[in-house]
Amino acid sequence: MSVGNTTSEHTNHPPRPRCVLITGATGAIGGALARVYATPETHLVLHGRQQQALLALAEECRAAGASVTLSSIKLTDDAELKQWLTTLCTEHIPDIVIANAGKNTHPQADSMLEPWNEVEALLDINLKTPIAMAQHLVPAMQARGSGQLVFISSLAGWYGLPTAPSYSASKAGIKAYGEGLRGLLAPHGIGVTVVMPGYVTSPMCNAMPGPKPWEWSPERAARVIARGISANRARVSFPFPLNFGTWWLAVLPAGVSQWLVKRLGFNHTGGE
Ligand SMILES: NC(=O)c1ccc[n+]([C@@H]2O[C@H](COP(=O)([O-])OP(=O)(O)OC[C@H]3O[C@@H](n4cnc5c(N)ncnc54)[C@H](OP(=O)(O)O)[C@@H]3O)[C@@H](O)[C@H]2O)c1
Repeated sequence: MSVGNTTSEHTNHPPRPRCVLITGATGAIGGALARVYATPETHLVLHGRQQQALLALAEECRAAGASVTLSSIKLTDDAELKQWLTTLCTEHIPDIVIANAGKNTHPQADSMLEPWNEVEALLDINLKTPIAMAQHLVPAMQARGSGQLVFISSLAGWYGLPTAPSYSASKAGIKAYGEGLRGLLAPHGIGVTVVMPGYVTSPMCNAMPGPKPWEWSPERAARVIARGISANRARVSFPFPLNFGTWWLAVLPAGVSQWLVKRLGFNHTGGE
């Protein structure tokens, strides 16, 4: 699959490989994305915390012809993040950056909110870290005049789910940030894509309470995401029926949406 092109036809140098950075590469969607992008024309920068899983993925991607560098820095530590991305940009400014690492949390029982330490950790990795990544990468991309930032939101960003209020808030937040940034950066040659997946088979998805209609495999999701990135689409949202349904939740009167969410069974935390 062709996903972007960074060759230069007018120089005698061999074309430089396109550099693709993926956080959360040890997860289901991040790993599937790494495999889609793993070609001889690509240098992959993969971030993940699970060493064994990261090494195994790197081996697979190298076998497919890609060159790979790995990182396990603490993404939520801004000083570490800045140092990592600044060093990376002195070597090779990434062409595509997919801020995919994320977590979820749920109310523990109907009468209780989500645990506060979990909420803070979630907002850090789902919302603050991707915005910080843009802060540290955009100046270099702007100076070069190209780049593609990709933010992984969720269909839960259309309307807050009682099963995951903080997760929904983080995903609505990163959706709004990506949309705003797209308009801001377009004149500088930098594209921004917001991805809104529905249910995709993964440890995170498995841990979610409530029904999971139209669940996709990570491989299918990764192919669709990569196609959307390649076309610099503003939004990549799937699967169609769930996207259409959840989009309506955002545009209907809020009282009607509340009723629908309850009717569809998305108010059960599974914690009773
Ligand atoms: N699966 C779905 O149904 C679904 C739907 C909509 C959106 N999404 C979004 O898609 C993205 C990928 O999720 P997934 O389904 O592939 O889940 P997953 O398999 O559980 O993977 C989550 C990834 O995020 C990383 N991560 C979590 N917290 C981190 C932290 N504090 N610092 C660094 N890395 C951290 C994990 O790293 P380690 O493995 O090292 O812990 C893992 O690589 C997430 O942003 C998620 O919100 C998923």
